[in-house]
Amino acid sequence: MSGFLRLGVNIDHVATIRNARGGEHPDPVRAAFDAAAAGADGITAHLREDRRHITDDDIARLKDQLAIPLNLEMAATEEMLAIAIRHLPHAACIVPEKREERTTEGGLDAAGQFDVLAPFVARLTEAGIRVSLFIEPDAKQIDAAIRLKAPVVEFHTGRYAHLSGESQAVELRRLADAAALAWKNGIEPHAGHGLTYDNVVPVAAIPQLAELNIGHFLIGEAIFTGLHSSIRQMRALMDEARG
Ligand code: PXP
Repeated sequence: MSGFLRLGVNIDHVATIRNARGGEHPDPVRAAFDAAAAGADGITAHLREDRRHITDDDIARLKDQLAIPLNLEMAATEEMLAIAIRHLPHAACIVPEKREERTTEGGLDAAGQFDVLAPFVARLTEAGIRVSLFIEPDAKQIDAAIRLKAPVVEFHTGRYAHLSGESQAVELRRLADAAALAWKNGIEPHAGHGLTYDNVVPVAAIPQLAELNIGHFLIGEAIFTGLHSSIRQMRALMDEARG
């Protein structure tokens, strides 16, 4: 606990820009190489049902070419399960997915969807993939993750990111309590969504967290300073938070 905090860089929005013109540039796989060179500890990519950013070909190339771990974000569907089992990423993070949403709004209801999720967690685990559940920092959801035997949970920090003042402090305590509870129960806690230079330090300081997954802000900031610089600066803030 309170050791090195890994940074997973989510490259989805490099693909968003590429797909705006339908060609090959900018290539998210090239961004993944650059992210690794800048110090990313892993690459995260969300293959959505509608393929609005990352494509099947991106996942195949990432898996073939990347030297650092690939975390595949996926909905709990038979199609995505087959893709995960075909490519065998290091980790698969099960996320809720609604076609009309702009991004992943809210965590997975692991408690309410227990029976639906159980076979997905089991089959991914059997395939040797480290399963993570993207959940709200909530004791009921952590309890479901324990019962599902998920080795990892990722706490949705979107609510924290959108709040300010005392309400943000309350949400930060909720994240800290959830990380402690997961860790106490043998689950490795991660966190992500909406993290920026301005809000990352208090989250990175939560000692039980082992990994942050950050995308939109890093890719957006790279427009101004370059990907190497945006990742280095985020890394420096995370290290500072860990003392
Ligand atoms: N973690 C998960 C599970 C996500 O779905 C996302 C968004 O795709 C992120 C982390 C990264 O969020 P952001 O792009 O806001 O940094």
